[in-house]
Formats: sequence, structure tokens, C-alpha cells
Amino acid sequence: MATAQAHRKNQSVEEASMVTSGNITMTDADYLRIIIHGVTAFELLRTALEFNLFERLEAAGGMDLEEVAAALGVKEQPARVLLLGLSSLWLLEKRGGKYVNSEMVRRKLLRSNPRFLGPLVDVQAEIINASLVDFAESMRQNTNVGLRHISGPGTTLYERLTIHPKLQKVFYANMGDASQKAFAQILDRYDFAGVRHAIDIGGGDGTNSIELARRYPHIEVTVFDQESVTRLAAERIQDPDLRKRVHFHPGDMFTDPLPPGADAILFFHIFEIWSLERNTELLRKCHAALPDGGVCLVYNFVSNDAGTGSLSAGLVSPYFLTLASGEGMTYSPQDMQRAVLDAGFSRVEHYQDMGFSHALVVGHK
Ligand SMILES: C[S@@+](CC[C@H](N)C(=O)[O-])C[C@H]1O[C@@H](n2cnc3c(N)ncnc32)[C@H](O)[C@@H]1O
Repeated sequence: MATAQAHRKNQSVEEASMVTSGNITMTDADYLRIIIHGVTAFELLRTALEFNLFERLEAAGGMDLEEVAAALGVKEQPARVLLLGLSSLWLLEKRGGKYVNSEMVRRKLLRSNPRFLGPLVDVQAEIINASLVDFAESMRQNTNVGLRHISGPGTTLYERLTIHPKLQKVFYANMGDASQKAFAQILDRYDFAGVRHAIDIGGGDGTNSIELARRYPHIEVTVFDQESVTRLAAERIQDPDLRKRVHFHPGDMFTDPLPPGADAILFFHIFEIWSLERNTELLRKCHAALPDGGVCLVYNFVSNDAGTGSLSAGLVSPYFLTLASGEGMTYSPQDMQRAVLDAGFSRVEHYQDMGFSHALVVGHK
């Protein structure tokens, strides 16, 4: 995510668009404007994606207003509104009378780019944004009032999603995408050579399990999640070798026993969902299920220890309170370590600087 550095100098769009480092410099007035008009800024971006505008501009090597209107199948006036908005946000630039994609768009908003942010935009648009009007009320009631926007059983978003296959698909497209990028960091830093069988608790669409099994051909993994989710994960695996080594165990992580026989537990993107008390309770259950020498890897979004950032930690936390569970947030690495020790693990390792505002804490039994 680009960093905003407020400063007082007036700066033209032309100057700003010359920034290539990924850092954006803007006035504090503009920074506040983006926050206050956040819904509009978001919709400008989402609409550009809906119309495939960035791909069209890239393929054409830039277009003028008339060409954009024709390509989108809309009148020139609304096309002009969109182009003005996207240019003001530095997503487009004007060169020689034509609108072209900025470098930022080329790096993160073209579908062909591995860092494409489209799945995140989709999950915000289709699942999260509507609920956030209930943030204040969720604070007052200390529960996920925003869940009222999604019908269905249970008290968490994850249970509700089980009766909305389309939304579930949107959710896991983003979760899987984020996990694939984030898990690559673990595979680079943590050696699973000594692990024989891992349980992937709340393993979602199996992205992490599949990546782990691919990287380590001796490892077996069991994805433990709600029934409809384990089905979704199972459908993703075609490779016959992976089918033999990646197993699925439907169940409720709070009320059902964990599958037996594992010497490692992946606790990935679970810690953010629950209160610290419930996390400690779950980690105690993991501890009990492991043999001596077993490990539990807790890996997720974190804030810094001071509770002042990062921006992505700050912006993702209200979702856990307002919608996902009504009790979670992005905790600090210190919170994670404390919970792992309180759950009975004798030793913790903390991997710093994992990127993506993530931390890995490993509890050893
Ligand atoms: C944020 S997703 C994380 C998915 C995966 N671990 C990853 O890192 O991509 C949380 C997962 O926990 C599962 N989950 C939530 N509550 C659960 C429960 N009570 N029992 C089992 N799974 C649950 C959800 O279905 C969802 O797949």
C-alpha cells in the first residue's frame, strides 16, 4: 500500500504522478479528503475494474475521452466524470492528450499482474463495506452488529457465508489470494522438514495446506474447517499426489475434537478473529492435541506493539469487530506470544519482519 506523507506544499497531479517509488506525497488536506470521500474514491476504483478500464487503456496504449466512452459503452459526460476522478486519485495520467495507466495501476490493478488487488476490492464491495456503517453501534454493543446485512445461521460471518455460495466464493478468492502471498514468506523462513503431519485449523479453501504439501513432498496435511468450506477446498485439488496427502476434516474448532496424529498445527488467520481469551482457549486445545516436541504456528495480520499501526492493521480491525465475529482485531506480536505461553507451550519463537503486516509466532510443546 502506498504511504501518504502529509506536507503543506501545493502539488499538482502532474508532479505527483512522477512519483515512482511507491510512496505518495500529498497535502494533509488531500489526505483527509481521501478519508472523508473514501466511499467515492473506492467506487471510482471499483467502477474502473468493473468496466475493465485499466486493461482497455493498457491494450490500446492510452485513449482519449471519446475513445474511452465508446469502449465503455457510455456517454462522454459520465466517462469524463470517471476519468477525472481516477486522474485526481493518480490512478490515471494524461500523456499527449490520452489517458494512460499510472505505474501504480500497472503494478497492482492489472489482472495479469501477480500483485493484482481485485479480489480485495471485490470482498470489500460485496461483503464488508455495507456492514461498516454499524461500526459505532458494534463498539457500543461490543458485538458484530454489521452481521445484520448478511442473512443466515450463526453469529459469525463464516457461518453466514455457508448459505451464500457466491459470497463464499468472493471471500475465499480474496482470502486464498492473500494467504498465498503471505504464506510464501513462511515457506522462505520456516523449515518444515521435521514435520510429518500438520492440521490446518480453520484452513479455509486449503491454499496454505496445498502450498505446504507442494513444497514438502513428505508432508501430510489435514484441513479442518466447516463442512461446506472443506468441500470447497477438496474441489480445488486435482493433482493425484496432493489428493493423497491433503485430507479434509469437517468440524467446529470450538466444540469438536481436533483430528488426531498431527505433530504440527497451522493456526493461520484465526488469531485475528477471536478475543484473546477465546484464542488462548483454542491454543490450549491445540497444545493438548500435539505430542511432546510438536509445534503450533500462529500466523496472521498484526499491529505493532505500540498499537499505532500499520495502516493495514488499523484498517482491517473494524471488520473483525463489526462483521466477522464481533470480538477480534489485529493484535500485536506480544499478544500472540502471551496467548501461546498462557496456553501451555513451553517456548515461543517470534519471526519478525514477515512482510504484509504479518507475524509468525511458533509455540513448542
Ligand atoms: C480468515 S479464514 C482463514 C482461512 C485460512 N486459514 C487462511 O489463512 O487462508 C477463517 C477460517 O476459519 C473458519 N472457521 C471460522 N469459525 C470456525 C469454527 N467454529 N470451526 C471451524 N472453522 C471455523 C472459517 O470457515 C474460515 O475458513
